[in-house]
Amino acid sequence: MGEVDPAFIQEPEHRPRISYIEGKGVPLIDLSPILSSSNVSAIEFEGLVKEVGDACKEWGFFQVINHGVPLEMREKIDGASRKFFAQSLEDKRKVSRNEKEVSGYYDTEHTKNVRDWKEVFDFTIEEPTIVPASHEPDDTELTEWNNLWPEYPPDLREICQEYGQEMVKLAYKLMELIALSLGLPADRFHGFFKDQTSFIRLNHYPPCPTPELALGVGRHKDGGALTILAQDDVGGLEVKRKTDGEWVRVKPTPDAYIINVGDIIQVWSNDRYESVEHRVMVNSEKERFSLPFFFNPAHYTMVKPLEELTNEQNPAKYRAYSWGKFITNRKRSNFQKLNVENLQIYHFRISE
Ligand code: OGA
Ligand code: NI
Repeated sequence: MGEVDPAFIQEPEHRPRISYIEGKGVPLIDLSPILSSSNVSAIEFEGLVKEVGDACKEWGFFQVINHGVPLEMREKIDGASRKFFAQSLEDKRKVSRNEKEVSGYYDTEHTKNVRDWKEVFDFTIEEPTIVPASHEPDDTELTEWNNLWPEYPPDLREICQEYGQEMVKLAYKLMELIALSLGLPADRFHGFFKDQTSFIRLNHYPPCPTPELALGVGRHKDGGALTILAQDDVGGLEVKRKTDGEWVRVKPTPDAYIINVGDIIQVWSNDRYESVEHRVMVNSEKERFSLPFFFNPAHYTMVKPLEELTNEQNPAKYRAYSWGKFITNRKRSNFQKLNVENLQIYHFRISE
């Protein structure tokens, strides 16, 4: 590739720093107390709940080990993803995302209207996934999102579906810990995820000739409830540290998952746990692969602060919004460069 397309160039204040800080990084949490085979004391379990709560409050991000997802499954999906992206552009475009289907392959995602240096393949967990037909508030029509499965590699579909089920299991366990850490019953969030709109993204970040000007993913917050990310050993994910606003890199830890609070948990918790900005740096030598799972509720969920977490002294900071309308709006705006800002939760903030 010669000259870099200006669509990829970040404004100077958002360009990455090539010499990054590793500093005090995101917490690493051992989930072995919740593995069904382990015999845990109440104290140990309480300790885990507190660790998760502290990490959500102080960082919005943490890594987990001993999470129960078989390493073999992760290796399988990683291998399938590498095979898929190694194909020619023409072959990958056979499963291109289009106006109707938001899943599939594409390489034109924009974050805050700057193009990301990456290509992706998306698939939803529920097949089909039911969502509003349009983002227009008064339109009540529903539609289906269907997955576009490639012919190659032939086992990609099965591997992805299997991996998806593992992610859902882990996500429920994490939501239980988060609920307990907020003083709620463990299953408080479960009901929201029946008819979930969760999806998984296979990310490929090719080497970039100008890593100082572009980003793999521009700074953003995840709009869903919770994200479970697998990154390879190349590294590049940076998190905005809450204490000082510095961008810190999440050091790759073998077989760990990176968990982050999304905007919906921020709203449910009435800002006790905030969704934190993050971005991805690319580099000029190595390609990088990652696999985020976005745990999202049913489209008909009206997202609003939980009543148990609000009262007269701490009134709701957000008005209710429709998750279905939010996600259809986002899917539309990330697909093309629009001249307006993306929909964000602060648009629903109640002014004080
Ligand atoms: C995302 C994201 C991080 C990564 O896709 O929302 O933050 O490391 N990805 O790919
Ligand atoms: Ni993200």
